[in-house]
Amino acid sequence: MRGLQGKTAIVTGAGSGIGRAIATRLATEGITVGVFDINATGAGETVAAIEAAGGKALSVGCDITDYAAVTEAVAAFEAQSGKGCDILVNNAGWDTPMPFLKTDEAFWKKVTAINWMGPLHMTHAVATGMAQRKSGRIVNIASDAGRVGSTGEVVYSGCKGATIAFAKALARELARANVTINTVCPGPTETPAMEAFVGTGEQGQKIRDSMVRGVPLGRIGAPDDYAGLVAFLASDDAAFMTGQTISVSGGLTMHG
Ligand SMILES: NC(=O)c1ccc[n+]([C@@H]2O[C@H](COP(=O)([O-])OP(=O)(O)OC[C@H]3O[C@@H](n4cnc5c(N)ncnc54)[C@H](O)[C@@H]3O)[C@@H](O)[C@H]2O)c1
Repeated sequence: MRGLQGKTAIVTGAGSGIGRAIATRLATEGITVGVFDINATGAGETVAAIEAAGGKALSVGCDITDYAAVTEAVAAFEAQSGKGCDILVNNAGWDTPMPFLKTDEAFWKKVTAINWMGPLHMTHAVATGMAQRKSGRIVNIASDAGRVGSTGEVVYSGCKGATIAFAKALARELARANVTINTVCPGPTETPAMEAFVGTGEQGQKIRDSMVRGVPLGRIGAPDDYAGLVAFLASDDAAFMTGQTISVSGGLTMHG
């Protein structure tokens, strides 16, 4: 992709699943990647794999629900990498399936802190410098749940829908500062989060099979299915795109 070599990127939740695949792909494009994760072990594994393949990455422990910790972590990454962050990928997320009427306030607070306040904290911390430098790319990993809703994921769906609208509004505010913001919506994807969601064994397989039946392309996603689109949106090839929401879900949802 054009314009990626020598850039820096922060990928939240890059210690696992989709975030790890995105971080790995960005590193192969010549980007120094900040692997931001609350799970230091997972982040360390991602960095080790990137370095073993000849790429550059830094592990940065960070809880995205804590704004003060986020600003410190961003400053530490920018100091270590030697430049202001060029690309932010808001990927970290979390949920556990439960009917809304069975959820409680503590659960709503946890889901919104990670899936809604987290991207907001990260974006505020990183986009301030991007706007001053008049250059930046932000890519949010939301979900098709935020576009069409998902049973058992009501509060999570609301957070992902909020992330989509947030990106559109901020894309308008920051367009003249040459900072673009676009959103990628995965469908069901085989990651540790999915395993926790559907479980293992015969019951888990039944749920996976029913998910596959709803996908025109006949499979659920793999973490690698999103990394190419994220690299494109971060590149000069996407210089004229902002405020867009793109589903990558095997045709599960189709938007005009
Ligand atoms: N897997 C799916 O089916 C699917 C579908 C649609 C959207 N998504 C979205 O894709 C993104 C990645 O999901 P995944 O399936 O790879 O999940 P995952 O659980 O494999 O990875 C999520 C990572 O986020 C990190 N994280 C969680 N809370 C954090 C916090 N407070 N601060 C910093 N890091 C934190 C975790 O430690 C983990 O490494 C999420 O935003 C998720 O909502 C996933």
